[in-house]
Formats: sequence, structure tokens, C-alpha cells
Amino acid sequence: MLFLFAMYPIHFFESIPSTNTLAKKLAENGALHGTAVIATSQTEGRGRLGKSWHSVAGKGLYCSIIVRPKLTPQDFPKITLAAGLGVAQAVDRIAGGFSQLKWPNDIFLNGKKCGGILTESSAMNEPDGRRFAVIGIGLNLSSSLEDFPEELYGKATSIFLETGIFSDASQVFLAIRNEILQLLDVFCNDGFQPVLTAWKRRDFLLGKETECVGFDGKILVGVSLGPDDEGQLHVKDLKGEIHTVLSGDIRLAGKVIKKPVDASL
Ligand code: BTN
Repeated sequence: MLFLFAMYPIHFFESIPSTNTLAKKLAENGALHGTAVIATSQTEGRGRLGKSWHSVAGKGLYCSIIVRPKLTPQDFPKITLAAGLGVAQAVDRIAGGFSQLKWPNDIFLNGKKCGGILTESSAMNEPDGRRFAVIGIGLNLSSSLEDFPEELYGKATSIFLETGIFSDASQVFLAIRNEILQLLDVFCNDGFQPVLTAWKRRDFLLGKETECVGFDGKILVGVSLGPDDEGQLHVKDLKGEIHTVLSGDIRLAGKVIKKPVDASL
């Protein structure tokens, strides 16, 4: 079903394999900047690093927004930080709290992940105007603890669990789209610095000991210094050497949380 809200088209589905997969196809076929795909549930929701994204029907927001900002290919990877900031700002507006960002793109409430972003781009050798990014957003709105698999116990949360607020997915979507499109305008017109400065105020990892798992499986342990001007994470290892992290899985060092055997005992 196609809706037109304030000139940006929205494709809405009850159930779909992945909003990102469809949004990429629409973008390849020329869909306009700001076009979105939303689903009540996904059967093959995708996360970063080949993980899957649990998409419980009606308990979260699952959407993808196509953007065509006038940015150089070098600046395209920074879109994901701008998008994370947009989601965090919208979450605060709705939940009245202070959400944080875990590099590169996780949305945290009270130290637990309530949302994530999967940004996928066109080939960077596409000519100006044909380059696009698809910003896929998964946000846990009203999930309860039982909705999460056991391995996410103590790590995942929802807006409802942290604030007691039941938020409406379409309102949350409109707030997020608004924030992200505005931030991309700021990025295109004034550069990345204003976005980065606001992002850094929400940096969940800053000054904490982290473990960064590279694509080769090697683990780097060190203190997070936050993202540099290019949006890449800097980590100071135990010998004082500073490393630039381009991607990979980042977690707090030594954080092992076990599910209680029986919470009623
Ligand atoms: C992550 O934290 O790993 C990113 C998760 C992104 C999930 C969203 S849900 C909507 C969109 N469609 C997908 O298949 N994935 C993204």
C-alpha cells in the first residue's frame, strides 16, 4: 500500500521479508529522496555484520528510508552516524529520556540497546544524483522481556520497558524521518561537524574499556576515545597505542550478564 505524507512516499506492509531489501530495489528503480518502507513485522529482518533482526509483530518500528544527499562518496559512510543521531533525538522527544549512541549505530536507553541501524548504499561510482543510501531502522517500542531471545537478556530493551510509555509506531516513524532528513540537510549545507558534535554528546562508549572484534576475529581491547572527524572510532590499547576502528563488533570489555535461574525465588 502506498501513502503520500507531506510529499514523501511511504510504502506500508503488514509483513515483508526485509524493509531494507525492498527499499534498495525501489531506490535502484529511481525512488525519490525521503521515500520510506514500513512493515508491522519482518520475516527476514537483517542486522549489521550478517546478524538477523528480531522483528516481533506490532512491538517495534521496522522501517527503511531512502536518501539521496548531495555528498561525496567519502562522506557517505557518515550518513549512518547522522541517522543514529536522528533516531536518538526522536526517541528523546517521544520518551522524554536521554538516549545514547553506541558507535557506530546502536541506540541505547539506560545502558541497553533499544534500536539499531543498518545503512546500505548504492555503488559509490554511481554518478551524482544516482547515489543513494537506505537507512534501515529497527526500534523496540513495546517489547517486553519475554520478546527477546535469552542471549539478549540484560542487553536489549524497549522504550516501554525503560519509560513505561507505549509509543505509536507511525508517530515515531514521522518523528524519526523528520529528524534524519533535517540532520542530512545540516550535513550537506554546514558540513559534518555540527552532526558529529551532537553525536559525541551521546557517546555511550566514551572513556569505557571496550573489546572490538575485527572481521578477522582478532580482538582489540582498549579505551574508547570516540569517533574522529571522519566518524571512525579511536581506541587506545593497553600499551597506549591508538587504533582506528573502521567497522566490526564493539562491546564493553568483560560484560557478561547471565539470566537469573528463577526470578521468583
Ligand atoms: C543492527 O543493530 O544490527 C541493525 C538493525 C537494523 C534492523 C532494521 S529493521 C528495518 C530494516 N530492515 C532490515 O532488514 N533491517 C533494518
